[in-house]
Amino acid sequence: AVERTLSIIKPDAVAKNVIGEINARFEKAGLNIVAMKMVKLDDEKAGGFYAEHKERPFFKDLVEFMTSGPVVVQVLEGENAVMANRDLMGATNPQEAAAGTIRADFANSIDANAVHGSDSTESAAREISYFFADEEICPR
Ligand code: CMP
Repeated sequence: AVERTLSIIKPDAVAKNVIGEINARFEKAGLNIVAMKMVKLDDEKAGGFYAEHKERPFFKDLVEFMTSGPVVVQVLEGENAVMANRDLMGATNPQEAAAGTIRADFANSIDANAVHGSDSTESAAREISYFFADEEICPR
């Protein structure tokens, strides 16, 4: 089925100037970028986004990292988009990410891991509406 997923190009990848290379991977895989903006998150916006991780030991570092520089938030649309994007990203820990994945190629650590992608269609719906109004999404 055609799905949408929320993608975030994280501060480490923006700082490395690989926004275009990452977008090319989405496009080559047949995912359409149907919404996109660059934003500098504050503690409230980043903490709210990762609210499910609030009690985890890495939460503070995660929010600190995600607010350390601009990010690119985007909506990807395509067949099986949630899983397709997770395959492109590779494992959360870049040390465990398969060769040729975004995280294997561009990420340095489990915190600075280049990209975020929704883990289910339910998360995707919630995460997309957290960042985008309906009229900001441009289906093709
Ligand atoms: P992301 O997919 O954005 O969702 C939560 C983030 O927390 C994750 O990517 C990692 O960058 C970060 N993180 C840091 N430590 C851990 C951990 N032990 N397990 C999962 N995620 C972690």
